[in-house]
Amino acid sequence: MSKYPAEPYKIKVVEPLKITTKEERKRAMEEAGYNTFLLYTEDVYIDLLTDSGTTAMSDNQWAGMMLGDEAYAGSRNFVNLEKAVQEVYGFKYVVPTHQGRGAENILSQIMIKEGDYIPGNMYFTTTRAHQELNGATFVDVVLDEAHDSTIELPFKGNIDLNKYQELIDRVGADKIPYICLAVTVNMAGGQPVSMQNIKEVKEISEKHGIKVMFDATRCVENAFFIKEREEGYQDKTIADILKIMMSYADGCTMSGKKDCLVNIGGFLALNDEKLYQRATELVVVYEGLLTYGGMAGRDMEAMARGIYEACDYHYIEHRISQIRYLGDKLEAAGVPFVKPVGGHAIFLDAKKFLPHIPQDQFPAQRLAAELFIDSGVRAMERGIVSAGRDKDGNNYYPKLELVRLTIPRRVYTYAHLDVVADSIIELYEKRDQIQGLKMVYEPPVLRFFTARFEPIS
Ligand code: F0G
Repeated sequence: MSKYPAEPYKIKVVEPLKITTKEERKRAMEEAGYNTFLLYTEDVYIDLLTDSGTTAMSDNQWAGMMLGDEAYAGSRNFVNLEKAVQEVYGFKYVVPTHQGRGAENILSQIMIKEGDYIPGNMYFTTTRAHQELNGATFVDVVLDEAHDSTIELPFKGNIDLNKYQELIDRVGADKIPYICLAVTVNMAGGQPVSMQNIKEVKEISEKHGIKVMFDATRCVENAFFIKEREEGYQDKTIADILKIMMSYADGCTMSGKKDCLVNIGGFLALNDEKLYQRATELVVVYEGLLTYGGMAGRDMEAMARGIYEACDYHYIEHRISQIRYLGDKLEAAGVPFVKPVGGHAIFLDAKKFLPHIPQDQFPAQRLAAELFIDSGVRAMERGIVSAGRDKDGNNYYPKLELVRLTIPRRVYTYAHLDVVADSIIELYEKRDQIQGLKMVYEPPVLRFFTARFEPIS
């Protein structure tokens, strides 16, 4: 068996890629103000900006799209989606939403009151934003190691149980409506959480009457790592492991754009009838009727089918192998990136890649720009630009200054990843010649989306 299993699919429809010259890419990058979010896909060769909504759907999902029941109420596709969530994840109630943040909005509104605390294993931008908008303070209770790009742990996304207990002791359990447990942790590099840790979090939470809410966005990736790394799960299927994982949760938010293998959609799942009741009251205000929640019938059908497909071992094994393949190539060339390789992306460590560029000259932003100019590969900055400013207007200086190379599901082949690796390795060899950037336009919020830069020469 090859270390890198071949694609467990064949290609029925192709989307041609545009091949550009370096001159054209340089011009495009200048016009985009050295911000990969401001590029047009017309100019992009291999797009690793995100794994969100960029999935290639299967023939079975596309066939399901033709069975879209576009009724305002009671669509049969909702019934199928509800059944898929109940069967695969095991939750009782399903509230559909247009995407993950729609579910985060509803969950935060029904559970949080002003002055509450929400512990979580590292923040995610939209998740924390909804918690804060509802008056809560987010408290990071992930293992310290998750903030260090060099430490190798099999379950680096785990909750630090001492930190969690300390928070409960400090603020009181009545101020903690739920813990938000992300499986896997995006901002830490796609790092998984062990079943053991999930169980222990559940135990502590139950003892104090705190609910456990998963951010299940990349739960299939998490299940794969449990199967591979945790004693007692080797012989279980991905579906078995998902069911066990979810049995320790009271509910979850889901961005279907990742592990449900669709381009749009999400849901909030719950076991508690009263909470479900409140969620149905809000979904009609923010998303749509409780049997479509902002999705077309066809989108719900594609998601229902995607939920089952994602449980295929060969699918997830190949996905993780692709990411490892890229990681192994970079490792062999000595390129610094976050270890161990996680579930959805390689995160280049820009502080180590470009140690001569001070963090306030945006090394990760520049590296992402240079990668695009070199080969047309689009990545994303996850460092000082993404972190923004505190309420006094000072820059946050995050420990991790990263460039995320996010692999879409079922879209690219190993050959594309060769292009990516070769380009990064070439840049690494001439890293001394790469200089920093200055920011010439900064929007007041979420600056990473639209900020503009110029090279310091
Ligand atoms: N939770 C996690 C862990 C995510 O990664 C995302 C989205 C969301 C929630 C929100 O879901 O986009 O459907 O509203 N992550 C994307 C990314 C945007 O590129 O990492 P959404």
